[in-house]
Amino acid sequence: MITLENEIKITVREDNDNPLLRDHFTPIGKEYTATTDSLEVIGEIPKDLNGIYVRNGHVQVHEPIGVYHAFDGDGMLHAVHFEEGKATYRNRFVRTTGFLAEQAAGKSLWPGILEPHLGTRRGWGSTGLMKDNAGTDVICHAGKLIATMSQCSEGNRIDPRTLEPLDPDLWNTTVAPHQGICSHFKVDNDTGELMFFNFSERPPYMHYGVVGSDSTLKHYTPIELPGVRWPHDLGVTKNYSILHDLPFIFDPELLAKGERKVTFFDTMPARFGIIPRHGTNDDIQWFEASPCFILHLSNCYENGDDVVMEGCITTSPQKPQVGKQTRETIKNITENFDKSLTRYRMHRWTFNLKTGKTKEEYLDDEITEFPVVSNEYVGKQYRYSYNAILGDRPWWISGVKKYDLLTNSFQRYEFGEGRTGSECQIALRDGAVDEDDGYLITLVTDMNADRSECVILDAKDITRGPIATIVLPLRIPNGAHACWVEADRIDGERV
Ligand SMILES: [Fe+2]
Repeated sequence: MITLENEIKITVREDNDNPLLRDHFTPIGKEYTATTDSLEVIGEIPKDLNGIYVRNGHVQVHEPIGVYHAFDGDGMLHAVHFEEGKATYRNRFVRTTGFLAEQAAGKSLWPGILEPHLGTRRGWGSTGLMKDNAGTDVICHAGKLIATMSQCSEGNRIDPRTLEPLDPDLWNTTVAPHQGICSHFKVDNDTGELMFFNFSERPPYMHYGVVGSDSTLKHYTPIELPGVRWPHDLGVTKNYSILHDLPFIFDPELLAKGERKVTFFDTMPARFGIIPRHGTNDDIQWFEASPCFILHLSNCYENGDDVVMEGCITTSPQKPQVGKQTRETIKNITENFDKSLTRYRMHRWTFNLKTGKTKEEYLDDEITEFPVVSNEYVGKQYRYSYNAILGDRPWWISGVKKYDLLTNSFQRYEFGEGRTGSECQIALRDGAVDEDDGYLITLVTDMNADRSECVILDAKDITRGPIATIVLPLRIPNGAHACWVEADRIDGERV
């Protein structure tokens, strides 16, 4: 059955020529529930694939205040729930406080990331001026989805089965009204602990915390940074978390005058703070590394005296123009997503806890981003990272590259001309033994066919192409991050 559950009216003006509101970014307002009994399925959905793939993404509902950026739209979750060879698709906006207020008003009430000075009311994010759009990340903790945005937001809790909003947790109401939580918190599937950070424009500029598997706040501590920072990810291992202090920041002299100019200080070292999981600022061991910016890590792990961190590095981050916009704005926005300028590539940092020294190695020349590992290997020694291959259009994922970090080999699969994918997730099959014994799942939008699909690949051999393809009831815009919820975690059988 295909059911149109709701239709949110999109009021973005037809003459708004911002390219981040067109083509594969085109906003959608229809919310569906659809089962594979009524959807076209090419191939066969494996019976040992059980759980929920969830992808988040930004969808702009109303004509924006100021210039729109692709990180501004309201979060919309797309979930594909696999059960015994069948699947159910759902898409729902995240009903944040800001989303509901703008629905009631019938217009935008908060500006986006590029023009915070246009804000007239208190908001969220590190500037305190944005809407909490909850459109960046989605991760499952203790059987519940938590949707967040990159600039720090409330931890919006959602039922993974229905995508209906849930009441906030006690830890969330304790932390979020003050500093919020950043996207890219991490969950240790062995202990059920959730490690998170936030950042703001006020000293001490960062906080770090741990939430237990019972959804109570176990640890929350200030982290003293030298100034305002703009981190995006943190790493975790069995015993440590790795905090990022990177030299891609608002120019501090201009910020003191109230002007926000993002600048890459290419002579200022990157710093990484290794903190015991339940440690404080005084316990941090800081390591210096070559100047860089990092959006996303693949994974981190301990190896004797070493803490190893792997992910995608850039030494030429493109600078979004924050503040009053000019005629150059659209060019500037497009350059932010130009892979030939940013050149994100796989990299390894090895921090030796005894010597305090950092070793760095480039792992690949190909430009990739959105690296993903299996949930079961977060914080542990691992072998495979599945990265998005970036295309030549803004925020366009043209394929997947599977790195075998043990043998330094790889596999590639490209979605085809005019087809863009989403961040993939690894779904281990029932009874899996190997790290890649399962399926790689993503959502693909085919601009030629004007449709979107859920694509299932064999994680062991992605070059074979899809095992199964489910055609979704509507064409969806491109997205941000995704997560995989194992069947036995949905109702909390496992922590
Ligand atoms: Fe991200």
